[in-house]
Amino acid sequence: MIVAIGKNNEIGKDNKLLWHLPNDLKFFKETTINKTIIMGRKTFESLPGKLPKRKHIIITTNHDYQLDEILFHSIKEALDYIKTCKEECFVIGGASIYQEFLPYAKYLYITKVEDNKDADAYFPEIKDDNYIITLLGANEDNGIKYKHYKYEKRSN
Ligand SMILES: NC(=O)c1ccc[n+]([C@@H]2O[C@H](COP(=O)([O-])OP(=O)(O)OC[C@H]3O[C@@H](n4cnc5c(N)ncnc54)[C@H](OP(=O)(O)O)[C@@H]3O)[C@@H](O)[C@H]2O)c1
Repeated sequence: MIVAIGKNNEIGKDNKLLWHLPNDLKFFKETTINKTIIMGRKTFESLPGKLPKRKHIIITTNHDYQLDEILFHSIKEALDYIKTCKEECFVIGGASIYQEFLPYAKYLYITKVEDNKDADAYFPEIKDDNYIITLLGANEDNGIKYKHYKYEKRSN
């Protein structure tokens, strides 16, 4: 999974991101380029368009949804597909999809933004003890500070 969260695990409001952080978008691009990205229908519709050089998988309950991308109608379908994937697959949100995939995610790339925002979408609570946590770097945009972490799930 890859996500940017505020101090209260907030991630979005009105189907939009909470911050404009160009250096974090660069980090997102470098991390996911040439990989598969998996997202909920709402997050897909919040994007300005298809993200270049990434295979898109969209999850929706709507069997009439027409799209020139891979569509799945359950988490299980997506998990079965991921098992067959040679490249890394990244869950890129939003809230409902993070919640449903968290038990299956081995690595979490979490950008922790040092800010609070009013929000209606949140990343699930995670127990730090269940992960090996590596600080990848610190960054700043428009006076907003943030840090990139990699969480690796402990095997026990
Ligand atoms: N900060 C970040 O890093 C970050 C990243 C991504 C998104 N976000 C934010 O997150 C918010 C969106 O999150 P969200 O929870 O509202 O929407 P979402 O998770 O992007 O999409 C929800 C939709 O996914 C489909 N879905 C979810 N679970 C499903 C299942 N088990 N089976 C089939 N379909 C399923 C449904 O689509 P249908 O309604 O079509 O059935 C559901 O309405 C936005 O504010 C966005 O900006 C933030």
